[in-house]
Amino acid sequence: MNIDGKPYRTILPAADGASVEVIDQTRLPFAFELKRLATLDEAAVAIRTMIVRGAPLIGVTAAYGLALGLRRDASDAGIDHAVETLAATRPTAINLRWALDRVAAKLREVALPERAAFAFAEAGRIAEEDVESCHAIGRHGAAILADLHKAKGRRLDVLTHCNAGWLATVDWGTALAPIYVAHEAGIPVHVYVDETRPRNQGAALTAFELNAHGVPHTVIADNAGGHLMQHGEIDVCIVGSDRTTASGDVCNKIGTYLKALAASDNRVPFYAALPFSTIDWTLDDGVAQIPIEERDGREVSHLTGRLADGGFATIEVVSPGSPVANPAFDVTPARLVTGIITERGVASANAEGLLSLYPERRPAA
Ligand code: MRU
Repeated sequence: MNIDGKPYRTILPAADGASVEVIDQTRLPFAFELKRLATLDEAAVAIRTMIVRGAPLIGVTAAYGLALGLRRDASDAGIDHAVETLAATRPTAINLRWALDRVAAKLREVALPERAAFAFAEAGRIAEEDVESCHAIGRHGAAILADLHKAKGRRLDVLTHCNAGWLATVDWGTALAPIYVAHEAGIPVHVYVDETRPRNQGAALTAFELNAHGVPHTVIADNAGGHLMQHGEIDVCIVGSDRTTASGDVCNKIGTYLKALAASDNRVPFYAALPFSTIDWTLDDGVAQIPIEERDGREVSHLTGRLADGGFATIEVVSPGSPVANPAFDVTPARLVTGIITERGVASANAEGLLSLYPERRPAA
C-alpha cells in the first residue's frame, strides 16, 4: 500500500538471501524507519518486541528467521533450534507456527548446503501467497461493503479494532483489505478506529496507514464503540484474527470480544477477515483451548508518545504499586460472528461454513 504515494511492503528480502528489511513498527506513527534483520536472534527479537507484529506478518518473518538461522547451522539440530526459538516468541497467533512447520517439513528433504537458500525462497513464497490471499479477502469483503452501501445509500461507517491492515501482513491487510478495495472502487467508506489500549495499534498504526492511503477515518477511545453502535453510527464491524478455530471462534486483540457483544446487542454485522493460515483446524473451543499471550504489565502502566518539542517520552499512568494484568488477546465465540471473510469467500462462523470453503479439511468418511 502507499505511503506518500509510494507503494511499500512490510518485509523486503535482500537479493543475496542474507537478510530482510522490515518497517520498525515500534517507531510508527512518528518515525518511518527500516530495520535490517540478519540473524535468527534478530528475527526472534523483532517478533517478541513487536518491531513486526500482526499474525500474517510474524508468520512470514519467522519463516525468514528460520532461513537466516540456517545460514549459521543447517543441520537437523539447527532446524529444531531455530523453530523452537521462533515459535516461543509469541504464543497466540497460529500463523507463526504454521509458517515454521511448512518450511521445516520441506527442509528435511533438502541437502544441507542448499537448506538456507531453500528456506529463504520458501519464505518468499509464503510472503507472495499472503499478498494474494489478503487481496482476495479484500475483494470478497468489498462485495459485502458494496451491498451494504447499496442498501444504505450513503457513506458507510466501519468499525475496526487493533491493526489488521497492511502493516499486520505483507500487503493489503485482512480487516482493512475490504476497506482499501472498496475505497479504490469509489465506495464512500469511513473507518472508526479503536485506539486499542494498551499498545495503541489502532491509534498509532491503523490511523497511520489509513492516513497514508487517504481513507477517511476517526480514532475513538476503546470504550466509545458501544455508544456509537447504539446510536446507529456503525454499519459494520470488521476485525482480523490471530487464531480461528475449526468451529469459527475468533481470537483477536484484547477488546474484540466486547465489540462483538455490543455489535450483537445492536444488530450490527460483525465480520472477521483472515487467511487460511490463521485457521487452527485442531481446535474447536477457542475460549478453552487457545493460549492467550500475557504481556509485560508496563504496557498497561506506562504510555509512550511524542512531546510537544518533538522528543519522545514514556510516562507512568497507573497508581504506583498497583498490580496490573495484560492479557493480549481474547476470544469472540462463533455465535457472535456474522461471517468469516477468507481468500476463498465468506463463510458462516461454524464448522460446516468453514469446511464448505475448505473441503480438503473435511475428515475422511
Ligand atoms: O499484538 P499484535 O499487534 O500482533 O496483534 C495483532 C492483531 O490482533 C491483529 O488483529 C491480528 O493479528 C490480525 S492481523 C491481520
